[in-house]
Amino acid sequence: MRSKNRSDRSNRSYLLIPLRYEAVKAEINDREDTPARTYRAPGRVNLIGEHTDYNDGFVMPAAIGFSTFVTVSPRHDRKLSLFSENFSEQVEFDLDDPDPRPAGHWSDYPRGIAVTLERAGYRLSGASLRIRGEVPIGSGLSSSAAVEVATCYALLDNSALSADPVKMAKLCQRAENDFVGMRCGIMDQFASCCGQAGKALMLDCRSLDYKLLPLPDETRLVICNTMVKHALAGGEYNIRRAECEAGVRHFAQSLPNVRALRDVSEADLKRYGNDLSEVIYRRCRHVITENARVLKAAKALGRGDLEAFGGLMNESHHSLRDDYEVSCKELDVMVELAQKVRGVYGARMTGGGFGGCTINFVNAENVEELKQTVAQGYTAVTGQVPEIYVCSAAEGAEEVIADENRSRSSEFNL
Ligand code: GLA
Repeated sequence: MRSKNRSDRSNRSYLLIPLRYEAVKAEINDREDTPARTYRAPGRVNLIGEHTDYNDGFVMPAAIGFSTFVTVSPRHDRKLSLFSENFSEQVEFDLDDPDPRPAGHWSDYPRGIAVTLERAGYRLSGASLRIRGEVPIGSGLSSSAAVEVATCYALLDNSALSADPVKMAKLCQRAENDFVGMRCGIMDQFASCCGQAGKALMLDCRSLDYKLLPLPDETRLVICNTMVKHALAGGEYNIRRAECEAGVRHFAQSLPNVRALRDVSEADLKRYGNDLSEVIYRRCRHVITENARVLKAAKALGRGDLEAFGGLMNESHHSLRDDYEVSCKELDVMVELAQKVRGVYGARMTGGGFGGCTINFVNAENVEELKQTVAQGYTAVTGQVPEIYVCSAAEGAEEVIADENRSRSSEFNL
């Protein structure tokens, strides 16, 4: 396990759609006389380890080829001006506002970053930010984390400050927890900061140690978007967290070393879990078995056993559906269709649940068959037209350098 620093990013090649970078680079070149700088942070997909991050457990996400771009130019006052290309809207805030509050608006995410950085002792310079998000919003691919991380990077650099990627991930999670009011874990921000092309990131959410696990060249990550997001998603997320906390209080009575469900084994669950209510027992069983599955999945990937890896993904879906109850009809339909396709090692819902996307780990040769089967079958059953994205694991957040000859790092290998 190791921590990543920026100097460690060389000789990488992109698996993303280069056109998007060309467009951003061209725009930066147009403004060459302005001191504006652009930063990119990706969304993520989670291969396995769902609803384990806030239980101090294990997750295995990968950054994906959809990003948010933030272009920042300095101001000479202590104002923060935010323009969203997605919403065609501009808002302005005072960095010296003594009582900043969220407004239930898209600007809460970037503003929350500024507020959190200031509270953590980073003295920010005024800035104008232009935000362009390409991560599908509300699809469970972490468009929020992408906005947060790109903003954090931009605001720090604009103030001649810096934080290493792990620290940045923690600050962004804090902004979402404390300012936006969503009690998310660390997974999304961590994947956006620390992802690497061609690799899944196996993260211990307690120690924040991580390993980058190469994904075989012949495999693809196919993300299928149900195009639905059920309204109960946010509330149910917090309910699940509270249920896990109730489980921890129960086990800690018999096992004083238990601080989180991460510390409870399957044997402990059988031995001490009988007095739990049926619902809390199932919630705990999901988290405990899911942690074990992530560890097994990392080993399977290490020995190139893709069938075993995919089998664990399938089991994860069933556990999320039956024990944790965060799936929905649309996700189940998609997963069942995919699991029957030749060359699909595993398929499951990904992210918080109640809609959003599935992740399919598939042999590159069978991608077309998978796309057709899912698109036709899903529409036939639900009447909805899905979106399907064929991805490879992508790079984490970084500055977009306009001209490679004057690049401050060798990060861009387009
Ligand atoms: C959301 C949260 C993450 C994580 C997942 C479920 O994406 O933001 O922190 O808890 O749900 O695994």
